[in-house]
Amino acid sequence: MKDVIGKLKSVLKRVLPEPLLKQLKFIYKYLDLMGFIVFLPHVPKMLYFQRVRFAYRLKRISINIECPHTEAQIISFINSFLSIPSTIEGCIVEAGSYKGGSAAKFSIGAKLANRQLVVFDSFQGLPENEEPHDKSVLGHSIKDWFKGGIYCGTFDEVLRNIEKYGEIEVCKFIKGWFEDTMPIFSYKICGAYLDVDLASSTKTCLKYLYPLIVPGGVLYSQDGDFPLVIEVFSSDEFWEKEVGCPRPFIEGLGKDKLIKIVKPISQLKKV
Ligand SMILES: C[S@@+](CC[C@H](N)C(=O)[O-])C[C@H]1O[C@@H](n2cnc3c(N)ncnc32)[C@H](O)[C@@H]1O
Repeated sequence: MKDVIGKLKSVLKRVLPEPLLKQLKFIYKYLDLMGFIVFLPHVPKMLYFQRVRFAYRLKRISINIECPHTEAQIISFINSFLSIPSTIEGCIVEAGSYKGGSAAKFSIGAKLANRQLVVFDSFQGLPENEEPHDKSVLGHSIKDWFKGGIYCGTFDEVLRNIEKYGEIEVCKFIKGWFEDTMPIFSYKICGAYLDVDLASSTKTCLKYLYPLIVPGGVLYSQDGDFPLVIEVFSSDEFWEKEVGCPRPFIEGLGKDKLIKIVKPISQLKKV
């Protein structure tokens, strides 16, 4: 289904005039409201009026902050960490915050779950890189999408956005390149969300964050449609040698944009 939507989008982009495309994008954004309608009844730990307020806050963020994600993706992760029993320790981690839209949304979920949200970002956009991205597996071109400096949200912007629309008191920010900041991070993690675009950044996140995830915890990547990122997740050698454990089962790998790992209870910790 998602493949069909991806292909349909790339055909429409080629054949439709720009003004009509804009109208369609607007309608699509609001159809994403369907994400809420499908997911909302299942959001655990919330009474009905709380769910409606939660949906309202998420939508308010999408309207006021540039958000390169869908509500369904965000709600899927929030649902997942809200379902983890409170007896299981661990914070929530976001790698890649851009303007703070997703972080503001996760902070609302983290507060409900009574957990801290740790946000990793350079706050200067993507690092310089020479990764040869070409086409997403969903069919659209991603050539030149991930140049250095793209997706830049400054620290002040992110802070302001979360203060205004999210729950700043549950947030901790770790500023810098993942390669420098993640090796010295040691908190237990019960949910990690990667939206980092590059294969190199994904590698760093998996290498340093996955070993910190508690058994039963989850790791999501929103970059599951990028072939170079799929290569990282699929490589047995990378998991064995760099992460220090066998490759776990990865839901949606090679098919979906949002992919997910539930850390097995028996997964060995990196030594
Ligand atoms: C697509 S944006 C994130 C979008 C955000 N999750 C949202 O939905 O609003 C990618 C982010 O990853 C960050 N990033 C990617 N690689 C990085 C690295 N190696 N070190 C630090 N930040 C990195 C960029 O700064 C950027 O903010």
